[in-house]
Amino acid sequence: TQISYILAIESSCDDTACAVLKNDEVLSNVVAGQEIHEKYGGVVPELASRAHQSHIVPVVDQALKEAGIKKEELSAISFTRGPGLMGSLLVGTSFAKSLALALDIPLIDVHHMHGHILAHFIDSNDQPKPEFPFLAVTISGGHTQIVKVTDFHEMEVIGTTQDDAIGEAFDKSGKILGLGYPAGPQIDKLAKSGDPLKFPFPVPKAPELNYSFSGFKTAVLYFIQREVKKQPDFIEKNLNDICASIQHTLIKILFQKIEKAILQTGIKTVAIGGGVSANSGIRSKLHSYKNHGWSVFIPPFEYTTDNAAMIGISAYYKFKAGYSVGMETTAAPRIQM
Ligand code: KG4
Ligand code: ZN
Repeated sequence: TQISYILAIESSCDDTACAVLKNDEVLSNVVAGQEIHEKYGGVVPELASRAHQSHIVPVVDQALKEAGIKKEELSAISFTRGPGLMGSLLVGTSFAKSLALALDIPLIDVHHMHGHILAHFIDSNDQPKPEFPFLAVTISGGHTQIVKVTDFHEMEVIGTTQDDAIGEAFDKSGKILGLGYPAGPQIDKLAKSGDPLKFPFPVPKAPELNYSFSGFKTAVLYFIQREVKKQPDFIEKNLNDICASIQHTLIKILFQKIEKAILQTGIKTVAIGGGVSANSGIRSKLHSYKNHGWSVFIPPFEYTTDNAAMIGISAYYKFKAGYSVGMETTAAPRIQM
């Protein structure tokens, strides 16, 4: 097969990322995070786009250097067109367009959510890859989706959140408990030595295969306020049990709809991605389903959180199919799948 070197840029939210791929193999995968948002307890769009602006050149340089590739050797430039924050997407989109123009090579736009899904096809240590069709479950601070994937270029969203993403539910619950941002990893850690059944939280109702998490967050808030009124040190005394109960309920909400999707579609292959798939409770629950005949795929951690390698692999399959986009392409913050 022909060898292609694809450079990919991802700047949809608060991470500036660049990767270089040789076909489906990742040669470099550089991510610059933005600590500035921590003290605000969430991503501040204006600060994010400014940070992208100062990170993008060093991050692209670093990715090329680590890959040992000169930019003249590149076959195509790819970038995340959307969805995401407008000011953030613009930085990556403009940079990718300029680079493709300067090098006179094809430009390839990628949908961020396709990236999360196709991350499973990155060639990594001969790990098995999901076979089509499969259900992709993408869970992060920005997304909660169940997608039916029939082919590299054919995907259908069959379930999505109507309000908050599951990562937001973790983070906002953690904020109520006084944990720092992002709270997801801390809740995971604290939950390990807690009783998941100590505090039963409600499972919000949502139609079909869709999710709702905002009612959950409110229930946690009211519960904590009520208990703290009775006992001021309630949180400190019960932190592990509260975290375990929160995590237990969020996992229950998540899997209820995954199970329903499997029943409805008859597809028993589940591929998970997004930052929340790092959660140990979710991972062990997924593995336990193997005994029920599910095939389960969890990509390496570096390819689950926002990264450019997943944009590169998506672009690779488009490139192989002869696809490229014109210079008139623009960032698309609300693009549909
Ligand atoms: O994919 P990601 O890095 O960024 C986007 O949101 O796109 O995901 C970040 C989210 C945050 O909400 C964070 O709290 C959550 O993933 N997260 C976790 C864990 N690690 C990260 N949530 C629960 N358990 C974890 N171990
Ligand atoms: Zn993402």
